[in-house]
Amino acid sequence: MIDPVYAAADDRYDSGMIYNRCGRSGILLPKISLGWWHNFGDVDPLANSIKKAHYAFDHGINHFDLANNYGPSYGSAEESFGYIMEKSLRPYRDELFISTKAGHDMWPGPYGNHGSRKYLLASLDQSLKRMKIDYVDVFYSHVYDPETPIEETMQALVDAVRSGKALYAGISKYPADKARIAYDYLAARDVPCLLYQGRYNMLNREPETEGILSQAEQNGTGFIAFSPLAQGLLTDRYLNGIPEDSRVARGGYLKKEALTEETIGKIRRLNDMAKRRGQSLAQMSLGWLLYHPTVTSVIIGASSVEQIANNLQVLNSPGFTDEELREIDSIVKG
Ligand SMILES: NC(=O)c1ccc[n+]([C@@H]2O[C@H](COP(=O)([O-])OP(=O)(O)OC[C@H]3O[C@@H](n4cnc5c(N)ncnc54)[C@H](OP(=O)(O)O)[C@@H]3O)[C@@H](O)[C@H]2O)c1
Repeated sequence: MIDPVYAAADDRYDSGMIYNRCGRSGILLPKISLGWWHNFGDVDPLANSIKKAHYAFDHGINHFDLANNYGPSYGSAEESFGYIMEKSLRPYRDELFISTKAGHDMWPGPYGNHGSRKYLLASLDQSLKRMKIDYVDVFYSHVYDPETPIEETMQALVDAVRSGKALYAGISKYPADKARIAYDYLAARDVPCLLYQGRYNMLNREPETEGILSQAEQNGTGFIAFSPLAQGLLTDRYLNGIPEDSRVARGGYLKKEALTEETIGKIRRLNDMAKRRGQSLAQMSLGWLLYHPTVTSVIIGASSVEQIANNLQVLNSPGFTDEELREIDSIVKG
């Protein structure tokens, strides 16, 4: 039985969450945000989704990151969110920071994918209906589309903001040269880009090596890291095989081919290091990201309340010595 009675914890802003300023904006974001890509679809028990959403909000995680096609099935994570919104979170709408995105495959035919104005604006309308809200806080272009003029995609973001259906605009996974054009286009129309969302974790350094982090910082755009735990690789999840309830076993986006001996070897060494530091590997992985001053927030995924609780402990994480940072680099770079 799903318990519809919910009152948010009175101490939700006093339980240790830290809020970082997002670029050059008025927005503060929690260091830990909750992503709804996996684990919140209609293949997942709704009761667990509700528990995780409530637990997160009760512990100061007030930013939920969604996209049109999160599930599976497509749209169902937004529907789960809409259910929870209606049943329990509605009174807290002004305390919540909700994002959605369009840019990847969503519905059949030529207008349900890519970067056109037609797709983005229709998708935003659909997302709002599913999520049962009047506006999102951030609307992202989910991915750069080389076939659509970037001006068309950016103007759709501008118009989403002007229409009041989104408060801010964001971009995700744009290469640096296209991000530059996007930032300039948006700024020239007084809709500065609030957030760049990119894959960043100890194993994937692209935002550093491609100059995305420094570019966002110079532009006054916040950087929010997705897959901070490399989808679960940077935890103790796969140290002793593939657990039945894991993303790999459940057919998620993380495939068993990723679990090479070389990668598992690195993870073991990182896990030993985390133990020495007195924390879980998940905590060390998140702590490493949040140690970078240019990282505004990390978007964690979680299949249980226990994982969220474990990850929240990163807020008490010690910093890193130069020696420790070098050790991580040498383990990761093999
Ligand atoms: N912009 C984009 O293109 C894009 C792309 C990908 C993701 N995202 C966003 O980023 C969010 C997070 O991505 P992600 O789910 O890949 O993040 P992640 O945090 O790297 O991985 C989450 C997975 O790690 C495992 N995990 C989490 N905490 C753990 C802990 N304490 N101990 C052991 N295992 C733990 C769980 O795996 P199990 O499920 O196996 O338990 C969980 O599902 C998404 O939900 C989405 O909002 C955006």
